[in-house]
Amino acid sequence: MTIRSVQGWSLIEKEETDSTNEDVKKLPPGSDKTAVCACIQTGGHGRMGRRWISPAGNLYVSLCLEKIPPAQAGIYSFLAAVALMQAIEKLCPGLQMHCKWPNDLLINGKKVTGILLETDGVDRLIVGIGVNLIPIDESRLLYPVTSLRQEGFDVDKTDLLEALLESFGQWQIRLKTQGKEPVLSAWKRKACGIGGSVTVNLPDRQLRGTFYGLDQDGCFLLNKEGEILKITAGDIFFGRTEKN
Ligand code: BTN
Repeated sequence: MTIRSVQGWSLIEKEETDSTNEDVKKLPPGSDKTAVCACIQTGGHGRMGRRWISPAGNLYVSLCLEKIPPAQAGIYSFLAAVALMQAIEKLCPGLQMHCKWPNDLLINGKKVTGILLETDGVDRLIVGIGVNLIPIDESRLLYPVTSLRQEGFDVDKTDLLEALLESFGQWQIRLKTQGKEPVLSAWKRKACGIGGSVTVNLPDRQLRGTFYGLDQDGCFLLNKEGEILKITAGDIFFGRTEKN
């Protein structure tokens, strides 16, 4: 394990761990602006308790943020997506990416990154980020996936991490000085599917309608036959697919 300072963050680098999110949960109090990254995760996890396949070669990093006002925690989902997109764009000029609610980044409709926000139950927000740099086995996944290499870009993991930490810090400053609006506007500019048909899978049911937009907190607004429903958590599928 090594520790070094990168773009104002204290970066802990590991060869192997179960999950970098779990590592951040175990950091001592006063670890704001600490990041943990690992080459391999043996227990990487994603949203809805799913597994995050974590072989060597991809980026796995979790950021520790402390003393975030509870009302601001949710916006970090969008801030992380916007910061990550900016970092990837810096290293992959010309690459077209889109945001999928709440915080996936897609290339040609295929998922290339995953972001998982968790809290430790006290005052710590953990922002876990995975980026596919190399192809992964997609046979058992819910969504089509891709990697930066498959899209024609061989990205150095260290360069991407540095660019991410830099842009994340810059967006944090923007959030503090200008509020949530610039974050949500940047997200919406790159959003896919607004105005189009969507299927929303909730834990207990499925809803169909059109993607109306986001509210001021980033909740997903579904237009279901003229009624606007606010969705705080769920899986979105574009189109009126029958199979999901
Ligand atoms: C998702 O799309 O479901 C979110 C995936 C988040 C994966 C990252 S990899 C680094 C961090 N450690 C984890 O165990 N999960 C997150």
